[in-house]
Amino acid sequence: MCGIVGYYGPKDPKSVILEGLQTLEYRGYDSAGVAILNGSEYKRIRAEGKLAALADKLADETFDGAIGIGHTRWATHGPPSERNAHPHCIEGVNIVHNGIIENYAELREELMSEGATFSSDTDSELVAHLINKSMKSTGNLMEAVMKMMKRLEGAYSILAVSADAPEEMVAFKNGPPLILGVGEKELVVASDIQAIMPHTNKVIFLEDDEVVYIRKDRYELFNRSGGLIKKEVEVIDWSPEQVEKQGFKHYMLKEIFEQPRAVAQAIDPHINLETKSVALTRVGFGGARVEELPKIDVQEDLQLTNETLEGIERIFIVACGTSYYAGQVGEYLIEQIARVPVECDIGSEFRYRYPVIPENSLVITISQSGETADTLAALRLVKQQGAKVLSICNVRRSSIDREADGHLYMNAGAEIGVASTKAFVSTLSLLQIFAIQLAKVKGVLNQDTEKPFVEALVSLPSQMEKVLVHDKFFEEAASSLKTYRGFLYMGRGVSFPIAMEGALKLKELAYMHAEGYAAGEMKHGPLALIDESMAVVMLVANDELYDKTVSNLEEAKARGGQIISIGSGENQKLQNLSLHYLSIPEAHWTVNPVLQVLPLQLLAYHVASSLGHDVDQPRNLAKSVTVE
Ligand code: G6P
Repeated sequence: MCGIVGYYGPKDPKSVILEGLQTLEYRGYDSAGVAILNGSEYKRIRAEGKLAALADKLADETFDGAIGIGHTRWATHGPPSERNAHPHCIEGVNIVHNGIIENYAELREELMSEGATFSSDTDSELVAHLINKSMKSTGNLMEAVMKMMKRLEGAYSILAVSADAPEEMVAFKNGPPLILGVGEKELVVASDIQAIMPHTNKVIFLEDDEVVYIRKDRYELFNRSGGLIKKEVEVIDWSPEQVEKQGFKHYMLKEIFEQPRAVAQAIDPHINLETKSVALTRVGFGGARVEELPKIDVQEDLQLTNETLEGIERIFIVACGTSYYAGQVGEYLIEQIARVPVECDIGSEFRYRYPVIPENSLVITISQSGETADTLAALRLVKQQGAKVLSICNVRRSSIDREADGHLYMNAGAEIGVASTKAFVSTLSLLQIFAIQLAKVKGVLNQDTEKPFVEALVSLPSQMEKVLVHDKFFEEAASSLKTYRGFLYMGRGVSFPIAMEGALKLKELAYMHAEGYAAGEMKHGPLALIDESMAVVMLVANDELYDKTVSNLEEAKARGGQIISIGSGENQKLQNLSLHYLSIPEAHWTVNPVLQVLPLQLLAYHVASSLGHDVDQPRNLAKSVTVE
């Protein structure tokens, strides 16, 4: 999704804005641009394609002003091109926009009937027109933006500057995230904290309908009706190395290898190693492994008390993309461990299906970014209906985190690769912690019977390390795997959502057709797809469904399917049946999905990488989907 950066300060705005936009690249984009004050005018430079193209154009440009705005555009209205790239400029008013203006057609028509002309296909250009129109009558940028906002419908976060009000900037948030960084005599406004971190760790998270009015190095905050508001400046403690590649070819590969640590960081605040029990509050914990990890503040993780949990009769999980598949694993885990009914839904379906939320329901939202539009909308919908919401989130103080009643933090550190990996495994471990705690308050588990579950979680990071050493396995297999016509991923029980997540990874990264299926459904359709050109990735867990899964594998093989199986131990039978067999450590059924997903991530990564794809920023995709 689009990225926004605005800067006022003593540094070179060109470099600050370009570097800021680079940190937002992970969001996905297809063109970029800047408008920076030079003399009494804003000089606007835009380019189609990656930021390198913009940097080339900017190389010989100099600017003497202290203020500027920049944007990476993820095309919605109109194809990726220089003319559609932001900033959009009308008579000295320059704007950048993230979101979708739903009433743009009628506004555009209205402006055209008044003689306005448009040089782009975007829904954003009219914002510059509307501000310019008011500027002509009032000469006041702040007033012009406030007036313009009243005309817009949809989701839109906007930054505006004008040559007639030099050294002023107005930022408005309605939907997509905007954060204000408050440095020493400098101010940065950006879509994500990463663009602000190099300059200051003091930030203000804007809420919807809030406006920042910047005049030189001073700022004021207003609400939508123009009332002055005060907000606290928060201090962020992310370390800059969390957002570096650290020698890995891609962020995604780095993040795949960070997963054992991500799981340890997710579970540590909730596990008492001495008693081998979980508690959804901060507990005292020791041990060398924990002390090696960067210090993470885990105050007030969960405001849902045991009493509240005890009364819960039904759980809904709502999420999108990879987080949705994590939710589906959660459905198996919570139902089987705590015996509480769970329904897991895709955000965009849930919010429009008029869901029935009975009393005593808990809604769990899962979102790495905490900004996914459909998940956020679902959260707001259920809160209106009186349900309590527990958020499982990575980005603290994101919109979903702020609006939820209870919070479980992934503690995975910054995830930059568009395709989610470490957030997924952190979520799976938190869902287990939650399921165990719920089972305890419901009397399904006690201090003795919870131990095997906790022990499985505690040994999970080291078991994950053992799977990751097989990195070379898929690197070597990638050149033959990439020749297949398609991939069918199959599993049963809790392995089924992992099959779907594996297929999603391959689709996202390698742009190959891949489908995740319940192995037991194979005879109801997918079997027709199988021939020698089809790869069949079979997840064979050593559980009560083992024999049935192996039968499915044999059926696929009998039709010519090229079998890649993920099992455990020296399983001769699986080895004989498979073209590629990968053994993962024998593990408790609750943590097995985490071990199973690692080879699937590596498979997708290496196939995509061998095809020469941009693994961190797959085509057409965005990390944070802040519009519907
Ligand atoms: C996008 C990303 C996915 C992610 C999904 C949900 O589609 O590309 O990797 O799983 O959004 O994002 P969230 O931040 O809500 O987990």
